[in-house]
Amino acid sequence: MSTLAEAIEAIRRIRPRRVVVFTGAGVSAESGIPTFRGAGGLWRDFRAEDLATPDAFARDPLLVWQWYEWRRTLIRDAQPNAAHRAVARLPDAVVVTQNVDGLHARGGARDVIELHGSIVRVRCVRCGREREAFEAFESLPPHCECGALLRPGVVWFGEMLPPYALERAAEEIRNADLLLVIGTSGVVQPAAGLVALHRRLSIEINPEASALSSACTLAIPATAAEATPAIVDAILEGRDA
Ligand code: APR
Repeated sequence: MSTLAEAIEAIRRIRPRRVVVFTGAGVSAESGIPTFRGAGGLWRDFRAEDLATPDAFARDPLLVWQWYEWRRTLIRDAQPNAAHRAVARLPDAVVVTQNVDGLHARGGARDVIELHGSIVRVRCVRCGREREAFEAFESLPPHCECGALLRPGVVWFGEMLPPYALERAAEEIRNADLLLVIGTSGVVQPAAGLVALHRRLSIEINPEASALSSACTLAIPATAAEATPAIVDAILEGRDA
């Protein structure tokens, strides 16, 4: 474990230009959105791995949609927190997120790679038509105009990540001077594996040790909203000097 002061010192030393911010559910925890794993990570006794799969949807689309509508409501009512807003102050940072909540973009981030899709998009399982659907549905499960079921526009366990998103994320992480890893348990592949592509300074912000802590140069045991603003200040300060 390292201190915030050590991380700030390391940033001042290298003056990073190319910054990538890799995030997971923990970056949105302080916006009131529960993480998947750890305390409060369950919904009605189900784990994400039980619901976020093509099999679960085929078996019980109503149950899966009830879970998504619960999360969609939380996300609609949530606001970006100090961590999302701090990341957005980095004018040319690339955000690579596993989150489907859209809070980085709502917080002002300009370049966001959504590895796992978006919960405010839906797609027809038959005709493939995709559209935005921010508001709650009148009845569940929702249907397309063609009569078939709609599904959330997210990537489920066992499905491919959008190839362009994965390729671009890998490229940006490989070439970054500084990688911030914020609020992820680091156990879901292939997203978590992207961190291993980075060879320079990497700093994790997570109140708990994660599967990625030892792969990072420094691991700060703090919450996203506590530590991210000071880290971003240090990055920007180096640019003014
Ligand atoms: N600030 C920073 N980190 C936090 C905070 C906080 N306030 N609160 C919790 N955390 C950390 C936890 O310690 C944990 O390591 O956030 C992490 C959340 O881990 P997960 O719930 O596993 O979320 P994530 O890593 O994003 O999961 C990956 O799994 O279910 C799938 O597709 C889903 O994208 C998701 C993927």
